[in-house]
Amino acid sequence: NLCNGHEAALERVQGITNCELQFMNADILDSNTLDKVFNNFKPEAVIHFAGLKAVSESVADPLKYYEVNVGGSISLLKTMSKAKCNNIVFSSSATVYGDPQYLPYDEEHSTNPVNPYGRTKLMIENIINDWITTDSKRRGTILRYFNPVGAHESGQIGEEPIGTPNNLMPYIAQVADGRREYLNIFGNDYDTADGTGARDYIHVVDLALAHIGALNQNKLNKFEILNVGAGKSTTVLELLKKFEETSGVTINFKYLPRRDGDLAAFWADSSKAFEKIDWQPERNIKKICEDTWCWHKLNPTGYGPK
Ligand code: WQD
Repeated sequence: NLCNGHEAALERVQGITNCELQFMNADILDSNTLDKVFNNFKPEAVIHFAGLKAVSESVADPLKYYEVNVGGSISLLKTMSKAKCNNIVFSSSATVYGDPQYLPYDEEHSTNPVNPYGRTKLMIENIINDWITTDSKRRGTILRYFNPVGAHESGQIGEEPIGTPNNLMPYIAQVADGRREYLNIFGNDYDTADGTGARDYIHVVDLALAHIGALNQNKLNKFEILNVGAGKSTTVLELLKKFEETSGVTINFKYLPRRDGDLAAFWADSSKAFEKIDWQPERNIKKICEDTWCWHKLNPTGYGPK
């Protein structure tokens, strides 16, 4: 429904792939339109990305997150059932794990999300599992994303958050391109290499390729959960310095107290994805910064007005 997206991105994707995309602007909660779309296109499979994803917003407005993320997924699965579309790949998140009992997180780690956003993702994983159990032809793959960053190397498509970026990488990029004066670093007293928070940053194209692998699913069980991360952690200061080297721009910053709800450090054990869908990340932090900077230089105002 483009609530946080741009139709221009779809035109650019067609340019990059030289493939025609058929697009229907519809809301996942609108079952009638969803049924029409499935009758029209008769999809063999669904990659379910549609959801709200700002942790802080989910804390402020939980009912909106349960309605859109959980309600929307139920609406989609009901339409898939009617259309006999039996294959779903779902965009989940490492936030389902909660406080680390051990690191790196593997798929067996306990799941105890500490915010409504993470709770919606875990609920949807369980709903998909129950949906699959009721029909032997159904199958589903849950991809637990770590921290998606970067842009397509063409510089044609990339991340353009609406308003002030919640996430680190788009904020750094907006300091580099002059839209913001400095970065606020939330906490420098964590038990990490340099005291700043450490995360597992995964290039968005590596992430996309994991979805292709999941769709093929030849070595996967009917219901499979896979971590999709780089398998290593990078601190805020390390990412900032790599971005400075790449862009040649100094990124000014100030330290602020820790942000509520933040964990010190977490990263993925993605060995199961390597084993099951023959996937591993190929793009490192340097490439992530290069592609992000290329997108920002070519598109100083993102996709432009909606
Ligand atoms: C990363 C690090 C911050 C901004 C969230 C969601 C997760 C996923 C990705 C949806 C932390 C620090 C950040 C800033 C900073 N979203 N930081 N200054 O919180 O790990 O994950 O986004 O799928 O589900 O939980 O990502 O980029 O917000 O923070 O110092 O202006 O950067 O403290 O250590 P996070 P983030």
